[in-house]
Amino acid sequence: MLIAANFKTNKTRCQTAAYYKEVSDFIAAKNINTEAMIFPPATALDSFEGKISVGAQNAYAVENGAYTGEIGLEQLDEFGIKTILIGHSERRHILGESQELIAEKFHYYKEKGFRIVYCIGEPLEVREESSAALMAYLDDQLEGIDLAYNKLIIAYEPVWAIGSGLTPTEGEVELIHTALRQKIKAPILYGGSVKTANAKELLSLNNVDGALIGSGALNAEDYCMILEIADSLK
Ligand code: 13P
Repeated sequence: MLIAANFKTNKTRCQTAAYYKEVSDFIAAKNINTEAMIFPPATALDSFEGKISVGAQNAYAVENGAYTGEIGLEQLDEFGIKTILIGHSERRHILGESQELIAEKFHYYKEKGFRIVYCIGEPLEVREESSAALMAYLDDQLEGIDLAYNKLIIAYEPVWAIGSGLTPTEGEVELIHTALRQKIKAPILYGGSVKTANAKELLSLNNVDGALIGSGALNAEDYCMILEIADSLK
């Protein structure tokens, strides 16, 4: 089981360090075996010491160079970061990343041996169309991605469930994860309005191997509570 927290554009360097320490202390005190992973904003990346994996929310497919506003491999190497989030719906839909660019990033960071948390998820209008349209949409988001990569982790995050407090029914989540499992051996996380109140139900579903959490994990205590729930399910 893997519980990942995506901070998005939240938390300063100082707040991230305090969060890391609070969660690390909790993991040690409670002897938690579930993997904890956090994605702080780029400005808060650092060489943390502890049991929480730290990943980048984004980086350009380059070592360094003239790409104003981007970070590359060099900035991640400085802190020994070997995990990256690629294809998040906010980067696809708000920042306008194309599948081509996303696949390029995937290949670059795969080549560099990174663990890649690769996000897919459909907007509401696609879900409302049909199950076939939904699966076809997810298939398109997997185009150009090596599903056999041994450091791949998939995160299924329906766009309409992100930050909205809405989630698909447990049956729907299980159905989609099980359909994805037919073609993907990698762990499949669920994301979209996961919180302390629904974590147990969602994490208990077949083919749900963990969660990718935004707002519900911003508070370190809540995140610790979800780690404890995940740990109790094993
Ligand atoms: P919320 O947990 O805030 O819905 O965000 C989910 C998400 O986008 C994690 O990457």
